[in-house]
Amino acid sequence: MNKWSLVVTVVMMFLAVNIPRAIAQEENAMDQAAGNFMQDRQFRLTRSMSEAASACIECHKEKHPGIFADWAASGHARSGITCLDCHLADPTDPDISTSHAKVYESGTSKWADKKYSVPVAAAVTPKDCSRCHPDESQQYAKSKHANTMEIMWKLDPWLNGGMNSDSERKAGCYACHGTVLKMKEGRLDPATWPNVGVGRVNLDGSLGSCTSCHTRHRFSLAEARKPEACDQCHLGPDHPQIEIYNESKHGTMYHAYKEEYNWDAAPGTWTPGLDYRSPTCASCHMSGAGEVMTTHDVTERLSWETQAPLTVRPSEFKPFPANTNWQTERDKMKAICTQCHSETWVNGHYSDLDNAVENYNENYFKPAKKMLDELYEKGLLDKSKFFDEKLEVEYYELWHHEGRRARMGTAMMAPDYAWWHGFYECKHRFNRFMEEAKHTLESGEKAYIYPTFPGATGDTTRPKEIFAPSEQ
Ligand code: HEC
Ligand code: HEC
Ligand code: HEC
Ligand code: HEC
Ligand code: HEC
Ligand code: HEC
Ligand code: HEC
Ligand code: HEC
Repeated sequence: MNKWSLVVTVVMMFLAVNIPRAIAQEENAMDQAAGNFMQDRQFRLTRSMSEAASACIECHKEKHPGIFADWAASGHARSGITCLDCHLADPTDPDISTSHAKVYESGTSKWADKKYSVPVAAAVTPKDCSRCHPDESQQYAKSKHANTMEIMWKLDPWLNGGMNSDSERKAGCYACHGTVLKMKEGRLDPATWPNVGVGRVNLDGSLGSCTSCHTRHRFSLAEARKPEACDQCHLGPDHPQIEIYNESKHGTMYHAYKEEYNWDAAPGTWTPGLDYRSPTCASCHMSGAGEVMTTHDVTERLSWETQAPLTVRPSEFKPFPANTNWQTERDKMKAICTQCHSETWVNGHYSDLDNAVENYNENYFKPAKKMLDELYEKGLLDKSKFFDEKLEVEYYELWHHEGRRARMGTAMMAPDYAWWHGFYECKHRFNRFMEEAKHTLESGEKAYIYPTFPGATGDTTRPKEIFAPSEQ
């Protein structure tokens, strides 16, 4: 706990300029004479705060007005949660910013004084938030979001085959999935920071970064409830959820009516019909409604694993089997839908989804996989590396790109993604793949191997922070 908060009690005055309404307002009702009124609105924070905590605020208000303004407008500032509550480190923490101690030595202002110096960490992890938000942190910890680094290293050919470079990974993969944080010269190592990927591996052993959806320092509910909170990662050729959403009727209604939605409803009270008339990503996957509780585990409410090559139930997903029953989870999702739809409508939709899954599995994926296995078995394709032969790339894109689009377009009501970007492209790819594969089988000639593969230099050692030595 923060012992500094007990040290001294001070009353702080914030300058009136641009300080958001969120801070508790205390009007001076005593002064009746007009001349005694302030020109601008004044806000006063009348609660106890240690000097060390005041120092953070005062100095950073000067140095980083962007950080200060966001914090001042947050629910945290309203509730007296200060910089220190989140950034204070234990003297033994591995992620202490030792470079920060120097700011107290500069003597450039009243607050640049050693007597205010406390150990500070730049990374604020789910473990730090869990002090005050234990439920959200626990749910998050078991989610696929939090555990994605382990999942990636268990199954991904880019990483395990070293088929891309570390810089491509840092700018790409890890920006969404997360880095393994490391320190270098008293600061976070630039090879791993900045990063707010969903599965960031923190130095305190916790997984993820809550800022993926609640950007600091507003930590806003409204932001996380909007589809834009997810679209930084959930887009593009292989997981176009935002494009799918925008195409769906739910998305078109969101765009038409979002100004009327009540984004600021208190946690857990955001109500379909009352606060919004069509669901966002959060409404279906996270926010509570009716009997269904809010969750920070996005694997809840899912009955299929549609991102995998062969669609399976979430509990059957080998690298990270969910501890769920698909029928129970589907019932939870349906209970969200039936806030606004009849059961017949919703069952009809799920019947479409199940048919699409079966069609994809049986008619596209399984035959393609069988063919790929045969080519490996006969030595016509080389198994040592992935992506260095044309047929491997074709096979990958069949399940990873159009195969996902077809399944997810159907799951989230986007006909163009289900067909033109989905099953239509599946047919196209499948036929090209099968034609070339058959030709290779008939000729008995080994497939051409790309002699150079740019950037195939990435480290292939599994991070020791995630895997025990026996698993590395
Ligand atoms: C006298 C001014 C001053 C005070 C007091 C101060 N800071 Fe800072 N802080 C800075 C400056 C300047 C930087 C930027 C340093 C840099 O760019 O390397 C900084 C950087 C930081 C960082 C980022 C560090 C990193 O390694 O990336 C954090 C987090 C931080 N401060 C939090 C705090 C907290 C919490 C407190 C109160 C306990 C505090 N600061 C008190 C001036 C101050
Ligand atoms: C509710 C917790 C919380 C509070 C309160 C808080 N921070 Fe932060 N701060 C974070 C998180 C989370 C990050 C992002 C780092 C991460 O992802 O781990 C961050 C990042 C930072 C950084 C580094 C960001 C950058 O762009 O370099 C600085 C500096 C910082 N905070 C200063 C402050 C200051 C000053 C205050 C008080 C005015 C404050 N913080 C209050 C949680 C908090
Ligand atoms: C020392 C306790 C404390 C810590 C640490 C803390 N919070 Fe909070 N948080 C609170 C309190 C109290 C509220 C209620 C504020 C209010 O009334 O809006 C809150 C509210 C929130 C909200 C809802 C805001 C809203 O608009 O109602 C979010 C989101 C949130 N916190 C995220 C975080 C995250 C993420 C972290 C870690 C980076 C964190 N908090 C760390 C105490 C804390
Ligand atoms: C734009 C953000 C982003 C980038 C960049 C990105 N991913 Fe992903 N990745 C995602 C999202 C979002 C999903 C979830 C897909 C879904 O469920 O539709 C995902 C899913 C995955 C999965 C499947 C996990 C599972 O449970 O089946 C693996 C493996 C993966 N990514 C590896 C990588 C690798 C390796 C890279 C870089 C070569 C990469 N990703 C780049 C966002 C990204
Ligand atoms: C994938 C996006 C996402 C991430 C990551 C995320 N949140 Fe949230 N969070 C949300 C959404 C959406 C809501 C709004 C739920 C609602 O409608 O009431 C929310 C609500 C909250 C609330 C308000 C209380 C509640 O449960 O509704 C708190 C507190 C909170 N989050 C804390 C955290 C903490 C702590 C972390 C990290 C462990 C975190 N969040 C990570 C999306 C996210
Ligand atoms: C910073 C990037 C990022 C953000 C922001 C993000 N996600 Fe994700 N999401 C991912 C990645 C990466 C995965 C893949 C995890 C895996 O399976 O390894 C994923 C997976 C998922 C899954 C599939 C889980 C499963 O069990 O298959 C759902 C559902 C999901 N995210 C919903 C959301 C929602 C809703 C939001 C916004 C409120 C959101 N995500 C925000 C990166 C992100
Ligand atoms: C109308 C409700 C609804 C909305 C809105 C919605 N989804 Fe979905 N989502 C679903 C359903 C239903 C499924 C399939 C669930 C199942 O497996 O049974 C799904 C599947 C997914 C999956 C695939 C998970 C997997 O591993 O198979 C991801 C990822 C995802 N959604 C993310 C998002 C994101 C991000 C948004 C917003 C851009 C969003 N969803 C909007 C209902 C919705
Ligand atoms: C907050 C209310 C709300 C929720 C929750 C909701 N929907 Fe909808 N949905 C609507 C409205 C309103 C329409 C527009 C109907 C129309 O066309 O008039 C709609 C349209 C649809 C459509 C028709 C799409 C089209 O292109 O015609 C389908 C299918 C659908 N919803 C399924 C679902 C499913 C499945 C869920 C749960 C996973 C769900 N909805 C959750 C309000 C909701």
